[in-house]
Amino acid sequence: MQNFKFQTDLAVADTIPASWYTDPNMLAREKTAIFNKTWQFAASLDQLRFPGNYVAVDVMGTPVVVTRDANGQLRAFYNICRHRAGVVARGAGNRKSFQCQYHGWLYGLDGCLRTTPEFEGVQNFRKEDFGLMPIRVETWGPFAFVNMDNNAPPLLEVLGKIPEETAQFNFDGMRKMKRMDYYVNANWKIYIDNYLEGYHVPIAHPGLFKELDYEQYRVDTYRYYSSQYAPIRPVRTEDAAGRVYTALQGDDKAFYYWIFPNFMLNIYLGMLQINIIVPISHDRTLTIFEWYFSDPGTPDTWNNLQSSIDFSDEIQKEDIELCEDVWRNMQTGVYSQGRYCVKRENGVHHFHSLLAEALG
Ligand code: FES
Ligand SMILES: [Fe+2]
Repeated sequence: MQNFKFQTDLAVADTIPASWYTDPNMLAREKTAIFNKTWQFAASLDQLRFPGNYVAVDVMGTPVVVTRDANGQLRAFYNICRHRAGVVARGAGNRKSFQCQYHGWLYGLDGCLRTTPEFEGVQNFRKEDFGLMPIRVETWGPFAFVNMDNNAPPLLEVLGKIPEETAQFNFDGMRKMKRMDYYVNANWKIYIDNYLEGYHVPIAHPGLFKELDYEQYRVDTYRYYSSQYAPIRPVRTEDAAGRVYTALQGDDKAFYYWIFPNFMLNIYLGMLQINIIVPISHDRTLTIFEWYFSDPGTPDTWNNLQSSIDFSDEIQKEDIELCEDVWRNMQTGVYSQGRYCVKRENGVHHFHSLLAEALG
């Protein structure tokens, strides 16, 4: 990783070096310094409503199981048996205990080790010392997040004003209605950079450009997140036929939030869409899109869901092409650093400042 001094003044700052994206060793550093120290989306709560429900998930390469125990308390553990590191839970379901899939050690949903088959004669062994290793789990709206760092600030502190600003949407009652996965041949940070600015909208997203009031578009940055203010242009009858957001009326607004490092919330048309950006390797990224709305939905929300999926699919394909082009070009070694647009790229600069802070 190339050493350079990050400039906190946007107007004079150079962008971070290309090597921060292209160096294959960066991802291991980012995992330790960033992904294992921040709140990571783990599961939607509609899979964890009842005592005994559990879901085994991969959180940035770490196997985790999230469960609601017999007392209704939400818990998370490393999905790693204390015997010889087998897996204790697979998939999702409802059960009273976890049985390791290797030699059958049995754990309660509270993580306590209960039985160890054929272990008579093993000395200096106390079951109390071999419970599943717990991980912090906290919730907001319909989501469970985990954090592998015991010193990280609480989830609600990281989310700042977001819960208050979005209280009108009643996220608690929402359920996951749809998931779509996209793979991008690019470093994960290129995808995040692209999400964080509207500078490319006029050129790269002609369809979206028609919907937005680009002059008013702006990005506001906070400690650990940024928000994008992107008002929808009023629909005039003469161009209504070509418009996607015709369902938005009057004061309806769209809200977009990015939470460091890899979680986005997009709120419009009475639904909530989240994006989770998962680095598979330094050169390949999984972007997960999930749509949520209130049960059971109305005919309008279901229709809006379909148009939202179609529209987001169009924009996502345009963004993937941009990101893959940038990735190819960064790897030539010809390009090292650029500059930020003061008016439009403060969100990208804010992301890079958090990267520089975390990586030291
Ligand atoms: S590794 Fe789990 S019981 Fe052996
Ligand atoms: Fe875009």
